[in-house]
Amino acid sequence: MSTRILFVCLGNICRSPAAENILRHLTHELDCAEQFEIDSAGTAGWHTGKSPDSRMSATLVERNIAVTGAARQFSTDDFDTFDLILTMDDDNYAGVTFEDKKGQFSDKVKKFTSFCTEHQHAQVPDPYYGGQEGFELVANMLEDGCREIIRQYAITS
Ligand code: 4NP
Repeated sequence: MSTRILFVCLGNICRSPAAENILRHLTHELDCAEQFEIDSAGTAGWHTGKSPDSRMSATLVERNIAVTGAARQFSTDDFDTFDLILTMDDDNYAGVTFEDKKGQFSDKVKKFTSFCTEHQHAQVPDPYYGGQEGFELVANMLEDGCREIIRQYAITS
């Protein structure tokens, strides 16, 4: 049985695809890739079909992390498909929980930053309108939280 994890941000071109690719990279590095199914989505559909933002991709490629993916919008079907839905900021959290009309899936929806062990920020800041330092901070926070996700969900022998 694998743990199915969906990362959610606003546009699905910066933070959540970066989280998806970083977690996938780490699960391969730590030899537990078969234990996870990983995807990402945006609460908005503006960038549907687009590859991850070139600045976000370059930040990960610099860290030897391969980047793949095409943006898609979050769907209520995702509540059934995934075990964990991890949102990047408070707006994404509100956007996802708003779709959970009966509150049936509240145990699955968590803030990504609740997995960060080294970074104290309450949200993963939106890097879209900022400079390179924002993309580096996002990548550092995501790596921190993704390592903790593996510590919590991977079964080690
Ligand atoms: P993301 O970043 O939510 O991390 O993918 C953004 C991408 C696009 C926009 C905003 C944030 N936008 O305004 O188009």
